[in-house]
Amino acid sequence: MKFTINHLLIGLLFLIGVIHSEPRNVCDICVCDHLDNPLVARCDEKNLTTLTEIIFNSTIEILSLSHNKLTFKSIDDLDKINNITSLKTLILSDNPLSLIPALSLPNLTDLQLMNTSLLNATFPKSFLNCTKLQTVVLSNNQLVKLTSNELKSLVFLTNITIDDAELTSIDHDTFVNISQNLHSISLESNSLQSAEFLLSIMNLVSVNFDKNHFKQLPMEIIQFNHAKQFYFRDNQISVINESSPLASWINTNTSDMEIYLNNNPFDCCESRWFIRYLIGSQNLVKDSINLTCALPKTYAGKRLLDLRVESMDCSTDPFHPSKAHISKLVVLVACLISIVVFIVIVVGATLYRRNRGHFRNRRGYEQIRGVNADA
Ligand SMILES: *[C@@H]1O[C@H](CO)[C@@H](O)[C@H](O)[C@H]1NC(C)=O
Ligand SMILES: *[C@@H]1O[C@H](CO)[C@@H](O)[C@H](O)[C@H]1NC(C)=O
Ligand SMILES: *[C@@H]1O[C@H](CO)[C@@H](O)[C@H](O)[C@H]1NC(C)=O
Ligand SMILES: *[C@@H]1O[C@H](CO)[C@@H](O)[C@H](O)[C@H]1NC(C)=O
Ligand SMILES: *[C@@H]1O[C@H](CO)[C@@H](O)[C@H](O)[C@H]1NC(C)=O
Ligand SMILES: *[C@@H]1O[C@H](CO)[C@@H](O)[C@H](O)[C@H]1NC(C)=O
Ligand SMILES: *[C@@H]1O[C@H](CO)[C@@H](O)[C@H](O)[C@H]1NC(C)=O
Ligand SMILES: *[C@@H]1O[C@H](CO)[C@@H](O)[C@H](O)[C@H]1NC(C)=O
Ligand SMILES: *[C@@H]1O[C@H](CO)[C@@H](O)[C@H](O)[C@H]1NC(C)=O
Ligand SMILES: *[C@@H]1O[C@H](CO)[C@@H](O)[C@H](O)[C@H]1NC(C)=O
Ligand SMILES: *[C@@H]1O[C@H](CO)[C@@H](O)[C@H](O)[C@H]1NC(C)=O
Ligand SMILES: *[C@@H]1O[C@H](CO)[C@@H](O)[C@H](O)[C@H]1NC(C)=O
Repeated sequence: MKFTINHLLIGLLFLIGVIHSEPRNVCDICVCDHLDNPLVARCDEKNLTTLTEIIFNSTIEILSLSHNKLTFKSIDDLDKINNITSLKTLILSDNPLSLIPALSLPNLTDLQLMNTSLLNATFPKSFLNCTKLQTVVLSNNQLVKLTSNELKSLVFLTNITIDDAELTSIDHDTFVNISQNLHSISLESNSLQSAEFLLSIMNLVSVNFDKNHFKQLPMEIIQFNHAKQFYFRDNQISVINESSPLASWINTNTSDMEIYLNNNPFDCCESRWFIRYLIGSQNLVKDSINLTCALPKTYAGKRLLDLRVESMDCSTDPFHPSKAHISKLVVLVACLISIVVFIVIVVGATLYRRNRGHFRNRRGYEQIRGVNADA
């Protein structure tokens, strides 16, 4: 009996083997630079759900698997990749991963995970083995927030890009233990309003906060005397005055700094200090030529550099009477007037009545006197 079942199983396995295509070398399926000892293999848009049928040459340094249906749920797929020990660049973008796979590749420098259905950025402990991993791209995922435990295995990170990731907050200690080599952070097109996490990163060269929700320049940027580029374009910054970080930099050696602020809704009357700063020699704003006012109405659309602070009319400033204020004022005045009119009428009527009585009494008295006199 047992014998027959074994036979049956073997038959089944054989059938599966026939139905399944033979394992094929990666360069038969993908685009390689050299067929014998490929360094580059591009397997984009191959509709792959698994890697089990592919044999990877152990010479590959750049492997792109973008736009497939890989999930790495099978341990075999993960082993296949982790066996390519020569791998330096791995592109897994546009796959429904949902989790970051437990990669353990000693030569990996560059990992791209754009649009991979991630809901958090938890890098497994295995990444502690990726001691050359410098650049990570996590854009186009729904991350919402970053917390301190997620990135802590990326000890040697230099560049991280998390654009279009719906981020609303980043914990202050997110980069605490991985900040040593961190040079560049890109967080474009998120919903950030503050940047406490910057305090733990000393060696930054570039920070990109374009298309976020900052209402003012965060004070945390003061600490960077040698950071080179700060991008705050397309935010909600309306006031830059003598309390801003730009003012703190004036007396420090910041000649190599650059800051970009285009497309912010500046209130030019509230930012007169800034307008003076822009024409001064300490100006670090590299796109100052493009900055325009949004408020007050008189200056809306005007370029900040075209304004002369001395001749600006900011007389209504800082009190800008709004329509709501005016209508409240009208109601108040109307009330006061009607109260006064009421009082005048009441007092007038009382006086009139009293006076009429007085006249009548006097006349009556006179009449009586008259009557008396007549009598
Ligand atoms: C991709 O694979 C699915 C099944 O996994 C199949 O239905 C579909 O036709 C394939 N698409 C292409 C373009 O090969
Ligand atoms: C790479 O694969 C090819 C088959 O396509 C094989 O001939 C070659 O020996 C392999 N190279 C290495 C280094 O494994
Ligand atoms: C990975 O490599 C090991 C040792 O070379 C081998 O035993 C194993 O079968 C490989 N795994 C895969 C999925 O290729
Ligand atoms: C890793 O890279 C170094 C230097 O590029 C190289 O000497 C080494 O052979 C690589 N390791 C593997 C497993 O390919
Ligand atoms: C994101 O990845 C999915 C596959 O996971 C793909 O169907 C979709 O086209 C990708 N989106 C973009 C904008 O590339
Ligand atoms: C990260 O997301 C995955 C998939 O949604 C989930 O299974 C895992 O528990 C999450 N990890 C943490 C630390 O929240
Ligand atoms: C790290 O690498 C070592 C040696 O290759 C391996 O034994 C270990 O399992 C790896 N650690 C993880 C967490 O993958
Ligand atoms: C950073 O490392 C220290 C010491 O290794 C540890 O106590 C601390 O919890 C770590 N902090 C974070 C946010 O990972
Ligand atoms: C990493 O960031 C630095 C500083 O912005 C930049 O010069 C470099 O080109 C970046 N490297 C990569 C691989 O993106
Ligand atoms: C500077 O502007 C901020 C709002 O961005 C405001 O809170 C602060 O009072 C202003 N400081 C001065 C000195 O006007
Ligand atoms: C200012 O910084 C630049 C570059 O960082 C440096 O070359 C220069 O010597 C510094 N000047 C002073 C006065 O510290
Ligand atoms: C100013 O805006 C123009 C048009 O949008 C653009 O081409 C130019 O690069 C901007 N200048 C700076 C310094 O950003």
